[in-house]
Amino acid sequence: MARVVMITGASRGIGARIAERFASRGDRVALVARTHGPLEAIADRLGGVAFPADLADPDALAPLVDAVTGRLGRVDVLVNNAGVEDFQHYRSADPAAMARAIQINLTSALVLTRLVLPAMLDRRSGHVVFMASTAGLAGTPYGAVYAATKSGLIAASMSLRVEHHGTGVGFSAVCPGFVAGDGMHEVHVREVGEAPWVLGGTTLDAVANAVLRCVDDDLPDVIVNSRPFRPALALGRLFPRVGAWSLRQMAAGYMKKLADARA
Ligand SMILES: NC(=O)c1ccc[n+]([C@@H]2O[C@H](COP(=O)([O-])OP(=O)(O)OC[C@H]3O[C@@H](n4cnc5c(N)ncnc54)[C@H](OP(=O)(O)O)[C@@H]3O)[C@@H](O)[C@H]2O)c1
Repeated sequence: MARVVMITGASRGIGARIAERFASRGDRVALVARTHGPLEAIADRLGGVAFPADLADPDALAPLVDAVTGRLGRVDVLVNNAGVEDFQHYRSADPAAMARAIQINLTSALVLTRLVLPAMLDRRSGHVVFMASTAGLAGTPYGAVYAATKSGLIAASMSLRVEHHGTGVGFSAVCPGFVAGDGMHEVHVREVGEAPWVLGGTTLDAVANAVLRCVDDDLPDVIVNSRPFRPALALGRLFPRVGAWSLRQMAAGYMKKLADARA
């Protein structure tokens, strides 16, 4: 029987590529985003179903899960992929926009997971993937809210994974670096040019493959980046001043350029 895979943020970018990959394996995809046209077009192409919804609206989440389960019977895999970034000088951040980003990136993912979980536990089968970011592992200068939401997803994934060990339900966090091809980093490239090579990067396919591997092999987390990230991360954790220094050297200049351009 085809699995039902619910993917948020599937109208473009990484989410659309993840949907293609699951659909190509014969899974039934339930696609969530706000923008009807592209979402319907992708759903039609992949033989899936579009469920337009605004994840910034807390009241939209339970009806969304009801709509998916009502139409497709169940959710076997949930990919919490939708996300927004708002890189800028923190002193200028609008508190309402900060709360909205937290709702979309973090709260909606936690609530959707809570809503699909009981049925997964009853079936003793299911998987939830959280689309985090290397930002959530290292922090992003000029992106504190974004980094905080991604850190939150990584921590939540590990919490849930350990809490539900042995239940048949798995949890994973995927942490990409800058993704080329489509998605939010392509907007940065248009605004201020390519990110420094030293930060590395990745592709839509590599991220989609990582999501599939998380589900197939029940991986705790995957970092998807062309440059090794775990050793630098471990060093930064052991020596936080070194971590802050290397972030300043490698990332701060590019991110400040973005924040300045948006000021
Ligand atoms: N691109 C990168 O370099 C990169 C790196 C690391 C992690 N990530 C993460 O990967 C995920 C996908 O990023 P992307 O690059 O593909 O971004 P993107 O091209 O901006 O796509 C974001 C997706 O989220 C949906 N979305 C945004 N706000 C929404 C809302 N209020 N309700 C429902 N859906 C909403 C968008 O659809 P609508 O606008 O139609 O609603 C779109 O489908 C994000 O979580 C991002 O943080 C991206």
